[in-house]
Amino acid sequence: MVRFSSGVAAVLVVALAGCGGSKDQSAPSGETASPVAETTSTTSLAFASCMSCHAVTPGQNGIGPSLAGVFGRKAASAPGFAYSDAMKGSGKTWDEATLDTYLTNPMGVVPGTRMTYMGQTDPAKRKAVIEYLKTLK
Ligand code: HEC
Repeated sequence: MVRFSSGVAAVLVVALAGCGGSKDQSAPSGETASPVAETTSTTSLAFASCMSCHAVTPGQNGIGPSLAGVFGRKAASAPGFAYSDAMKGSGKTWDEATLDTYLTNPMGVVPGTRMTYMGQTDPAKRKAVIEYLKTLK
């Protein structure tokens, strides 16, 4: 019995090691990249939840508008995107303060918005996202 189960365990370990092997090889190579790449990966983690709806390429609207150039822009002004009346009437200009409150609770801050995102409650992650939005031209 003991021999049998340790045999099974050994097979499992080999299988798992085989599985994880390729991932383990790619992870360290990412980590040894430049500090810029590290910043980018932290940001893209915080921004990952946005990417299902938002592209960052100018003019590329999806479920949400392209976020290219959104920082400093008036709300509801991405060309070619059909905004909700709520967003059009929000009167906001996207700066650090307005983005910070909006991203905390989109549907509470702009009632009736079509952005059905529950909000980011972690201030550090909101800051990372806003810093990233600033870099989008
Ligand atoms: C479920 C899809 C979805 C997710 C997830 C989502 N958004 Fe949105 N977002 C939208 C939609 C749709 C709009 C347009 C809202 C409207 O017209 O009411 C929008 C609008 C916006 C706007 C206003 C844009 C403008 O041109 O005025 C900003 C800024 C924004 N989103 C940022 C984000 C960020 C940052 C995240 C991630 C933290 C995020 N969104 C996650 C769908 C989404």
